[in-house]
Amino acid sequence: MAILDILVYPNPLLRQETDLVTTFDGKLKKLIADMWETMYVAKGVGLAAPQVGVPIKLLVAEWEERRQVLINPSIIEKSGSEKREEGCLSFPGIYEEVERPERIRILYQDEKGESHDEIVEGYLARIFSHETDHLNGKLLIDHVSLLKRAFLKKKFGRKARIS
Ligand code: NI
Repeated sequence: MAILDILVYPNPLLRQETDLVTTFDGKLKKLIADMWETMYVAKGVGLAAPQVGVPIKLLVAEWEERRQVLINPSIIEKSGSEKREEGCLSFPGIYEEVERPERIRILYQDEKGESHDEIVEGYLARIFSHETDHLNGKLLIDHVSLLKRAFLKKKFGRKARIS
């Protein structure tokens, strides 16, 4: 296993489009193992492939003993709404209140390529929503107020200010 570099905002690779995963091979397995290792070292609860520079629809997440690999996830229903603080490994040291659905219905494949259709609630739903956002080029900063966004852009450097 290897520890991968986590891209930090405003790296443009965090915004790139991601491809569907269609091949469930050894290469994918190795990437998943490396992403787990990288997430644990960084003390995160979720990590999406674009955050390590790989533009594919893959994420890993762990919450309350549940370890989950989601491939090609798609949130097809949302209900309720809850504001809670969350962080992101691509925005080190930043925690922001973000409104997310309380409950989601999500379709995904596991690492063997098997399809699942599941209803998820609470903080795990928040993590899945946050990480699925990454696969669509959407970031924590897109969920905060304009004022906070300006502050974060300034904090994360010049490159962001001109974008
Ligand atoms: Ni994140």
